[in-house]
Amino acid sequence: MKALTWHGRRDVRVESVPDPELKEPTDAIIRVTSTAICGSDLHLYEVLGPFMGEGDILGHEPMGIVEEVGSAVADLRPGDRVVIPFNIACGHCHMCDRKLYAQCETTQVREHGMGAALFGYTKLYGQVPGGQAEYLRVPQAQFGPIKVPEGPPDDRFLYLSDVLPTAWQGVEFADVPDGGSVAVLGLGPVGQMCARIARHRGHTVIGVDRVPERLDLAGAHGIEVIDESDADDLGDAVRELTGGRGTDAVVEAVGMEAHGSPAAKAAHTLIGLMPDRAAAPMMTRVGMDRRAALLQAIEVVRRGGTVSILGVYGGMTDPLPMMRIFDKGVTLRMGQAHVRRWVDDLMPLVADDSDPLGVEGLATHHLPLDEGPHGYEIFQKKQDGAVKVVLNP
Ligand SMILES: NC(=O)c1ccc[n+]([C@@H]2O[C@H](COP(=O)([O-])OP(=O)(O)OC[C@H]3O[C@@H](n4cnc5c(N)ncnc54)[C@H](O)[C@@H]3O)[C@@H](O)[C@H]2O)c1
Ligand SMILES: [Zn+2]
Ligand SMILES: [Zn+2]
Repeated sequence: MKALTWHGRRDVRVESVPDPELKEPTDAIIRVTSTAICGSDLHLYEVLGPFMGEGDILGHEPMGIVEEVGSAVADLRPGDRVVIPFNIACGHCHMCDRKLYAQCETTQVREHGMGAALFGYTKLYGQVPGGQAEYLRVPQAQFGPIKVPEGPPDDRFLYLSDVLPTAWQGVEFADVPDGGSVAVLGLGPVGQMCARIARHRGHTVIGVDRVPERLDLAGAHGIEVIDESDADDLGDAVRELTGGRGTDAVVEAVGMEAHGSPAAKAAHTLIGLMPDRAAAPMMTRVGMDRRAALLQAIEVVRRGGTVSILGVYGGMTDPLPMMRIFDKGVTLRMGQAHVRRWVDDLMPLVADDSDPLGVEGLATHHLPLDEGPHGYEIFQKKQDGAVKVVLNP
């Protein structure tokens, strides 16, 4: 089959690789019909190289049609239309019983001290072949796959794999009081959906980014926006709109590739050029996060508010402004999304013909798998108006 594989910094290729096969009775094989590129993939493309293997298949936002199922997969049969959550969870361990699917104890990558395995996401997360491919082996298929109805186009359901449950969790963890306000930092696909979900749930939303078409898109959905590159001090700009206090909550939907902080950018570039054996410990132990957005979040939130961090961070020891966080009494919540936990909340919204979250309009580009490398490039460089790129193998 054809698959999109990793070969180095900003070097992904579409190659022929062996077809996946059932290995465990709990596996399924799906034929992928749509598979999206995520902001998280951009970290692999740019800074997480030390944790990648040459030829690793990327992708963790797939959907498709079941081809084959193992003997222990009772609820799926060939022909079913399914969306595959990005984290791999068993559904019945201590963590899964508590709906902490991103920490599933059956798939935790203990060798590296990490949580549940993820599709297509580095050795730290199990080096599981990903879904930017014609076919995908799905482990723990007795629990993971989300069955979706025939009829509406793939884009209606595709984002149940990651963007929608991630955005939902971001808003849920932000703990916005009734009638309260939330700032969403970063208006990539995840931030766009956070902003729409928060608005749908009745909150006042302020969106922040610096990419014009992303600000416009949020504006078109009725979100008040601030162009971060215009604001001398984002904290002041948000306080001005919120009675001098800041928003009740902030969702940080940027992560470690924030604009700003040139020193960290230089360090990331340096790590990218180092041999893996030297670079990996530097990335985990020394810590080279670009924290610009996180620091902004701590400034923007009102005293006693909550910062809900969705953006992925990769370093370890970058100091946080603890005095500021402590004195403001800020609650921090974060983590990978527990995808299946939020599906029951989201399914009625995506199944609704009026498409209240506008999921069908999120993808700016649909490309054949062969054009995946081009998709990565325009998504990373924010060229050609790319907000969300979906590949159709
Ligand atoms: N927690 C999870 O389970 C989970 C799941 C999916 C994605 N993510 C993470 O969420 C983040 C967003 O994902 P995405 O697909 O929307 O990515 P994206 O890269 O398209 O979006 C990030 C946006 O942040 C903006 N930005 C950069 N610096 C900023 C700053 N200082 N202030 C405000 N905006 C800034 C960028 O212009 C961009 O529009 C990534 O870090 C991704 O890894 C986490
Ligand atoms: Zn993703
Ligand atoms: Zn589990």
